[in-house]
Amino acid sequence: MTTGGHINLGVLVSGNGSNLQSIIDRIETGGINADIACVISNNPDAFGLIRARRHDIPVIIHQNRGFDSRQDYDAALVAILRDHGVQLVVLAGFMRLLSEIMVNAFPNAIINIHPALLPSFPGLHAQKQALDYGVRFSGCTVHFVDCGTDTGPIILQSVVPVQQGDTEDSLSARILEEEHRIYPEAVRLFCEGKLKISGRHVQILSS
Ligand code: GRF
Repeated sequence: MTTGGHINLGVLVSGNGSNLQSIIDRIETGGINADIACVISNNPDAFGLIRARRHDIPVIIHQNRGFDSRQDYDAALVAILRDHGVQLVVLAGFMRLLSEIMVNAFPNAIINIHPALLPSFPGLHAQKQALDYGVRFSGCTVHFVDCGTDTGPIILQSVVPVQQGDTEDSLSARILEEEHRIYPEAVRLFCEGKLKISGRHVQILSS
């Protein structure tokens, strides 16, 4: 696991990139000792790419087409990340599952944010799943990425109460506010070498 020094991040996005923005903002205010070495998207129209360009961050469009398998796509993705010296891969609304090629290339160095309190409601439309189930509390989870869908060791979680009359949009918006708080915080902890994984448990070391 990486400890302490200056860390190169590679951020993967497919859409709006508001979580990317929260990490950019936290780096620029001096809160995280890291650089974003590249932002990569499988979607050429992702607004996250515009956000990155506004901050002079190199962007790479890595589209799905032309690759016969997820493994082939991921092998090319690994090469791009290595070319940019990436040490921590940050999934920020990247709408692809990673294969073992990516997971094994960056052991304990890929993180994701999920808009529910895992292990409840993994996969797509987590906020709708939570509303349909009728839970009183949902939230968001930052976790390390393994080969499962949203199954890796949990780093941080934040609870968001469900309100009467919540819609998927209203609940998603309140969860997103918490995402923007805990995702940069998890990145900071990683970059400061304060995350220690033992099995499923992530210990947060004090300084
Ligand atoms: C967020 O809800 C995140 O939890 C999920 O995808 C969404 C990405 O939003 N993984 P944004 O592109 O960061 O605005």
